[in-house]
Amino acid sequence: MNQNTLQETAQAMVAPGRGLLAADESTGTIKKRFDKIGVENTEPNRQAYRDLLFTTPDFEKHTSGVILFEETLFQSSLAGQPFPKLLASKGVIPGIKVDAGAKPLPFGKPEETITEGLDGLRERLVKYREAGARFAKWRALITIGNGAPSYNAIQSNAHALGRYAALCQEAGIVPIVEPEVLMDGDNTAEVNEEVTTWILKETFQQLYFQNVLLEGIILKPNMIVSGIKCPTQAGVAEVAERTLRVLRRCVPSAVPGIAFLSGGQADELATAHLDAMNKIGNLPWKLTFSYGRALQAAAQKAWGGKNVEAGKAAHLHRARMNGLAALGKWDK
Ligand code: 13P
Repeated sequence: MNQNTLQETAQAMVAPGRGLLAADESTGTIKKRFDKIGVENTEPNRQAYRDLLFTTPDFEKHTSGVILFEETLFQSSLAGQPFPKLLASKGVIPGIKVDAGAKPLPFGKPEETITEGLDGLRERLVKYREAGARFAKWRALITIGNGAPSYNAIQSNAHALGRYAALCQEAGIVPIVEPEVLMDGDNTAEVNEEVTTWILKETFQQLYFQNVLLEGIILKPNMIVSGIKCPTQAGVAEVAERTLRVLRRCVPSAVPGIAFLSGGQADELATAHLDAMNKIGNLPWKLTFSYGRALQAAAQKAWGGKNVEAGKAAHLHRARMNGLAALGKWDK
């Protein structure tokens, strides 16, 4: 394992004013997004859409890396250039989602899952690196409600994140460690804070047990928001304060950067939250974005399968706004 390479890659992923575009929707998930805009989920349409994102002029100014789905890693742009090469030529680091999805957790609480994909991962990582991937992503899902989370779910998912992270580093790939506490319940932000603290504590314990180099990872957590169905919603200042408190308590300063998921937050709110945290500042790690929906929803709507230029403009706008938020310089 080349520790310097891992550290350099991790630092480049959170370079000032830049963040990650999560464009790694599986074929099933992108279908849900395409259904909303009346686009058929075919391989040519997925290729055309990812081409739109990656050929958006100037998006690289605000985007340090892109998380790809496996199909896209081995696909070419409409002009015939392999996507990882196209991204690298713009100074954007290609990454790859490597988990095989969340499956029901045996004997867990209702809705609890365990993320699978460790079998054969060592071999897949070699193939992905050859194709140009320099970082990877694995997402663990933690549910709140109906007695969840259980210790079973917390421990099993944290352990898998540790196994994944160690395998990535062995292959010279920076792992994005993503323990996501879902925001679709009716819980308060306070409960989210407790649960996020628990999963982060357990995750860093597992990273330690499994000899993962903290300087060579990026953490991708949720923010501490209220569940969507909670009648009282925490405001921007409260979300920023709670999120920073949890991160300060749980994330060692050896970690170079934290890149948040958006998790279903409205686009502008995801930007406002990131900006508020960076305005507070004086933090031991870089704080940036690794948004999927909050970077792409507007672009998908504007594109609608036809209007490429409008799609690119919408993508660039959100990338630019989030780039400013990563510096604490966004202004509504
Ligand atoms: P969202 O920002 O849409 O939550 O997606 C980020 C991601 O990569 C989830 O794994």
